[in-house]
Amino acid sequence: MTTRIIGTGRCLPEHIVTNDDLAKIMDTSDEWIASRTGIRKRHIAKEETTASMSAEAAKRALKQAGLSPEEIDLIIVGTITGDYVTPSTACEVQQIIGAENAVAFDINAACSGFMFALNTAHAYFQSGIYQNALIIGAETLSKIMDWGDRSTSVLFGDGAGAAVVTKGDAGLLNFTQGSDGAKGMVLACKNRSNNNPLISTSKEMKYTYMDGQEVYKFAVSKVPESIKKVLAEAHLEPEDIKYYILHQANIRIIQSVAKRLKVSEEKFPISLDHCGNISAGSVPILLDEVNEKGMLEKGDKIVMAGFGAGLTWSACVMEW
Ligand code: COA
Repeated sequence: MTTRIIGTGRCLPEHIVTNDDLAKIMDTSDEWIASRTGIRKRHIAKEETTASMSAEAAKRALKQAGLSPEEIDLIIVGTITGDYVTPSTACEVQQIIGAENAVAFDINAACSGFMFALNTAHAYFQSGIYQNALIIGAETLSKIMDWGDRSTSVLFGDGAGAAVVTKGDAGLLNFTQGSDGAKGMVLACKNRSNNNPLISTSKEMKYTYMDGQEVYKFAVSKVPESIKKVLAEAHLEPEDIKYYILHQANIRIIQSVAKRLKVSEEKFPISLDHCGNISAGSVPILLDEVNEKGMLEKGDKIVMAGFGAGLTWSACVMEW
């Protein structure tokens, strides 16, 4: 008995911001952004919130799964940009969709958030706890960007992706996950300063800071390493995999992973060109795009992998 995905969904904000739009408000260009990252546009939330996008993605995933909200007993949202410190985004989703029988909580694992949510649901299922879970990766990263920093603000976008998972004979074959808190400050966001009048406050870094080159080095070594590990343990070769659904940070990272695994880049579907990096949202949004296009058939094997702030990483191999 393992964990199977039976429905996927996504929700992106209506407002689209192109690289040319960004060039009007900062010293950048479509040429620089596209050639360094592969990103051409991204969706930026105006009215939408992390919870509203999550709930919409969840409704679509539930419809595809053929389950009612009442049949969901676990909701996990991977996010670093919940609308509130508390309640959690998962509790908001529970309320919006009417999943009154679910237990709901968020996971803060940045770009690995959806993967950690999947692995957590799987662990509950394996323990005999819970039957049907809604796992979501969702972000409104535009609200934590330093829009005066062209090296980070051009990379990210907003959106949510969801999947309904249940116990099944086929599905998750193997997963790995890890963290390296010692390197946490290479990609960080201290988004509140202490307003306690009893202590003297220090200047806080309130928006996202990233050492791009350090993150790049981490990604191009850890992602292929973790994918090789899950495949070897599952007695599979890289060519056995139909698609690699990777976190969408940078096309050059994806090309490097393909090269290190010695597989064609055609096995790596892309959404970063039209979505940018949506942190926890990237993997489930891309999975839904691939699923919607009918690219997956029963029995296909796929790899999903997330990596990012924490630092955190996770990879899994799944039979569709
Ligand atoms: N537009 C134009 N120029 C820009 C720019 C922008 N948006 N952002 C940075 N630059 C400039 C820099 O100021 C620098 O100029 P200088 O040489 O005059 O000082 C030059 O471009 C090179 O900057 P650098 O930071 O060295 O670029 P890079 O080749 O390392 O590319 C990233 C930057 C962010 C694209 C790259 O490091 C990267 O992709 N890192 C991984 C980030 C990531 O994936 N994070 C998410 C993980 S979840």
